[in-house]
Amino acid sequence: MTTTSDALLDDSSDALADSTSDASLARSLARSAQIEKQIGTDPGQFRMLTGDRPTGHLHLGHYFGSLRNRVALQDRGVETFVLIADYQVITDRDEVDSIGERVFSLLTDYLSIGLDPARTTIFTHSQIPALNQLMLPFLSLVTDSELRRNPTVKAEQEATGGRPMSGLMLTYPVHQAADILFCKANVVPVGKDQLPHLEQTRVVARRFDERYGRAGDRSAPVFPQPDALLSEVPNLLGTDGTKMSKSKGNVIELRMSADETAKAIKKAVTDSDRHITYDPAGRPEVSNLVLLASLTTGRDPHAIAEEIGDGGSGGLKRLVTEAVNEHLAPFRARRAELEKDPAHLRDVLAEGNARADAIAEATLAEVREAMQMVYA
Ligand code: TRP
Repeated sequence: MTTTSDALLDDSSDALADSTSDASLARSLARSAQIEKQIGTDPGQFRMLTGDRPTGHLHLGHYFGSLRNRVALQDRGVETFVLIADYQVITDRDEVDSIGERVFSLLTDYLSIGLDPARTTIFTHSQIPALNQLMLPFLSLVTDSELRRNPTVKAEQEATGGRPMSGLMLTYPVHQAADILFCKANVVPVGKDQLPHLEQTRVVARRFDERYGRAGDRSAPVFPQPDALLSEVPNLLGTDGTKMSKSKGNVIELRMSADETAKAIKKAVTDSDRHITYDPAGRPEVSNLVLLASLTTGRDPHAIAEEIGDGGSGGLKRLVTEAVNEHLAPFRARRAELEKDPAHLRDVLAEGNARADAIAEATLAEVREAMQMVYA
């Protein structure tokens, strides 16, 4: 064994922990604005990848927080990859009960909101062997202490209530690097909480080039260093005015019927002041409903509040119900079609998996070549 790895794996600088600092966030925001501009003029130079764990039904928080943005990128001509992260589900739980159902439910949510399988590759971890194989060389490029310091790993660990951490949990940021790098995605729309993963991915890409890429006498690095695409995310709360969370029963799921949606809005918490205003700090519950109407109609929240005026919570809820149901109507129509044809859903996933698999195999071939592990 040589000792060169010590220099390469110098992890004392803690770039990952720094990725949550204010300065780093400001840098990421500035870079995102620049990318947004470039997408406007030349969408073809971007390949975006993002994904979700198949753990539950998507709701309006997911929709306004990220899903609609993906559809917008797809529609603007960016090549789009969306991962159903099934292996990530097993980082913190030992049962994988009904995972198949969850995968298809997530796929149905995706297609119903307008992700188009002709333009967007939708795929699952578990069906792409070459993606998962990238994990091996990538793991050789990170240290255990670096992973233990990763803010997202720490947060995940705290969320599991002190249960012993699995090896997969510790290393899932590296797996996530494989998710992004297998297809050489250069933009990754994520929330602020995922910035350490992006930094980890950049570190892996850089170190791969330093250790293996150059050794293979390549002029260009095998992997690009991807950028996060941070966007303005509305602070949409649940129907009780607190953080949206399925366990609190305060969410409006995309799969709810118009009646179920009306019921959920009817029991939403408001206050006793009949005069409706938009004042998120002073009147979080009422303002959240106004925000929901604003997001679903594209209108200014203050104008909406003014229009309702002294109409009270009854007037507010009537308007919100109508706005939300109108917005969700085309999604529901598409969902009804999709649910009639489960074979179509299976085909869509099989095609997405085949597309992702071919790309992963090509990348793995380059990796083997860079690592001088081609023997035939
Ligand atoms: N970790 C992400 C989440 O929990 C899901 C995810 C998996 C992801 N792989 C990814 C997101 C790659 C962006 C890029 O939501």
